[in-house]
Amino acid sequence: MNNGTPAPGFELISDSHATKDLDRTSSYARSNAGAAEAASEIGSHEFGVIGFGVLGKALVAGYERNGHQPLIYDPNVPHFNEIHPALCQCLAIAIAVPTQPGPDGYDLREVKSALNLLARIGYRGVVVVVSTIGPRDVRTLEHFARQLYARYSIAVSPEFLTEANASADFYGQRVVYFGSVSTSTDDIELRRCLEACRGGGVQLRELSAEQCCLIKTHRNLALALKLTSANLAYLEAVENGLDAEQAQGIVDAVFDDPRLHSQAAYHTVGNSEGTMGFAGKCLEKDLAAKASGIADSVSKDLLAALLRFNQHARRHVISIPSCQS
Ligand SMILES: NC(=O)c1ccc[n+]([C@@H]2O[C@H](COP(=O)([O-])OP(=O)(O)OC[C@H]3O[C@@H](n4cnc5c(N)ncnc54)[C@H](O)[C@@H]3O)[C@@H](O)[C@H]2O)c1
Repeated sequence: MNNGTPAPGFELISDSHATKDLDRTSSYARSNAGAAEAASEIGSHEFGVIGFGVLGKALVAGYERNGHQPLIYDPNVPHFNEIHPALCQCLAIAIAVPTQPGPDGYDLREVKSALNLLARIGYRGVVVVVSTIGPRDVRTLEHFARQLYARYSIAVSPEFLTEANASADFYGQRVVYFGSVSTSTDDIELRRCLEACRGGGVQLRELSAEQCCLIKTHRNLALALKLTSANLAYLEAVENGLDAEQAQGIVDAVFDDPRLHSQAAYHTVGNSEGTMGFAGKCLEKDLAAKASGIADSVSKDLLAALLRFNQHARRHVISIPSCQS
């Protein structure tokens, strides 16, 4: 029976509050109260967003560009740190909270905290996990929601935006992958929620939830491998007496091959910290989660070594022509 009551012996966990203090930017200079007023004007309380960081802001900006006023909840952001009573009525709510690497893949604490909150308020719509999770996490979340006797359904739709250009990348995404975790997910509402925050012409591709997670995490791994290769070439060029410009010239020549074609940013050595290797929030984090989450021991060793190489490279200060990530 699914009546919204926790299973016997199962306690609803309390919300943990991440400590990061995010500034409210002027483009989001509205509170949920403001959203409620605006929404009543355009009759839209359809969508909610939990977690108002880089990804959450890009999502909200996408909805707003299309005339929607999503309700936002983030315990660490002033004006959005209270749950709006109408959150419960949203058709779909996206979860965009952090997922840091843990000892066994991703640390799902904040995703679970958000799922727990939605169960507590009796939410019955569609929950879309846009936070990055691994394929094995799909069943963990399904099981968790079942233990909560949650009345919502869950889907995943991983996000590929870059931090430097988050809103434009998000809105302009051509292909959006999504997959249901729950068997009962309302496909029409799910598609509507995914389309309502994007620009025109977006293609929605439905796969299994696990397939979506594999695509997301391995795309980041492929980008990390590419940057690792560029850094290795650069390092050896410097060891052979070349200066920074000549070393980057070697890297550019290596990648001047149609089989390796990419945006320059993904083979330019140097990061926003002024060191070698890749910095930013996503690639190293996802490499660490893959290294701890993968079962095959040889793959685990390889990924752990790549991580150690990147951490080693990040101690090398260089003069940088541009920055990636
Ligand atoms: N930043 C990127 O470029 C990017 C790209 C693709 C995917 N992602 C993924 O998106 C997810 C979020 O990343 P981000 O960069 O937006 O992180 P972020 O740190 O910028 O923002 C996360 C927000 O979630 C809030 N939060 C934490 N716990 C919460 C909770 N229990 N309930 C509600 N809000 C909570 C935090 O206060 C913060 O504002 C991660 O899984 C990340 O891997 C990020």
